[in-house]
This record gives sequence, C-alpha cells and structure tokens, in this order.
Amino acid sequence: MEIKIFDTPDAVAPACADEFTSLLSSKDYCILGLATGASPVPTYRELIKRFNAGVISFKHASSFNLDEYVGLPRSDKNSYYTFMHENLFNSVDINEKNVHILNGNAEDTEKECADYDAAIDAAGGIDIQLLGIGTNGHIGFNEPSDAFSDGTFKVKLTDSTVQSNSIYFTESAMPRYALTMGINSIMKAKKIVLIATGTSKAEAIKNAVKGEVTPRCPASVLQKHPNCIFFLDRAAASLL
Ligand code: PGA
Repeated sequence: MEIKIFDTPDAVAPACADEFTSLLSSKDYCILGLATGASPVPTYRELIKRFNAGVISFKHASSFNLDEYVGLPRSDKNSYYTFMHENLFNSVDINEKNVHILNGNAEDTEKECADYDAAIDAAGGIDIQLLGIGTNGHIGFNEPSDAFSDGTFKVKLTDSTVQSNSIYFTESAMPRYALTMGINSIMKAKKIVLIATGTSKAEAIKNAVKGEVTPRCPASVLQKHPNCIFFLDRAAASLL
C-alpha cells in the first residue's frame, strides 16, 4: 500500500479527489465504489466543485455504496441513501438509475446481498473504491471478527461502532444491524483509496498499516491489495 500524509485535513480532499478526477477523465465509463461517514465529505465537496467548474462529469459513471443500515426507511435523515444524495448525488449529473445502494429493508436480505455482488460483477467490477476506517479498524461495516468476510452480508454492529455513530441519531434509535459489502467484495476493486483524519484514527491506522494482517483489524487486509493508497493527515499518521 502507498501512504500519503498531508499537513492538514483540508489538504487530503483535493488529493483524493484527484484520483476520481483522473479516472473520470480517462475512462469511457467508470464504476465508482463510494462511502459514507465524515471522512469522505470534504472529497465529495471537492468533486462537486470540480463538476460545477466543468472539469468532471458523472454522466458516464455508475456507483455502488459500501453499506446501509437495516431497518431505516430510505427517507430517514440518517440512511446512507439520504446521506449520499445530500452530500453528492443531488449536486452532480449522475443518472439515478446508475446509483446502487443496498436496500436495508429488503425482505430477503441474503438475496439482496447476493444480487448486489452480482450487479457489481456484471458492471465489470469497481474501478475505484473509496473507504473510511472505523476507530476499531472496520472498513465498510466489516467489524473486527475471527474471520474475513467474503461477499456482501448482514452484520451486527459492534458496541464501538454504535457508540461512534450514535451522535447522528438524535431522533431515532441507532440500528444494530447493517448490510455491507464484504472484505472480498472490497478487495476485488481495481483501486482502493482510504481516507483517515484526526487522532482518533491513529491507532486503527497503525494497526492497519504496521500490524499483522488479521480480521481483528479488518483494514489490515488492505496490505495485500495491489493498488491501494491511504490518504492521511498528520494526526491520523501520528503513530506510524
Ligand atoms: P467516519 O467513519 O468517516 O465518520 O469517521 C468512518 C467509518 O466508520 O468507516
């Protein structure tokens, strides 16, 4: 993996947006793997700026998001469906029919997950996958566990994830389950870019970059990916 360290969190977004810009500008049709959470928001803002300036277009792109809560209506302000529309899709020219977000309310979750992986494969695979990292080392909602997951699946969230994300749930209870792309689904992406900023991520980054490859720190598997870049600010990189 390649590690890029920036002096400030603000310097991370333009550099990460450059990865998307060069892909969108060089390939006829792009498959984007997208993420939610605080980490990618400045990058999405930068991409919107570049779209408004006529530098990039999402007309010839499809997107697949990493994960979605189970049991929240899509219209809920905390659903990742809402998050992605508010933070990116509503402000760029992506065609809604090319937007893929797991349906956390599907009656048959196993089928929903299998169909999602099949749709990614049918699209030709993800060209670039954006990731954040949890303080516990999770990627997507692949929580620390005894074994790396395979394809997209339903997961029970750990207490630390519930604690981290509860700040957003002021009006409704935070869901305890989610659907997430599995480790194998993520590792199949042709390129992976992970963003981490702030001291709260330093320990997880240290374990992911320097620790053994173990499902106890799911992000450590990225050491085995042939084309993966970590975009870090000094604080997130402080234990490297
Ligand atoms: P954050 O979350 O970007 O909101 O810190 C990242 C994650 O939990 O994967």
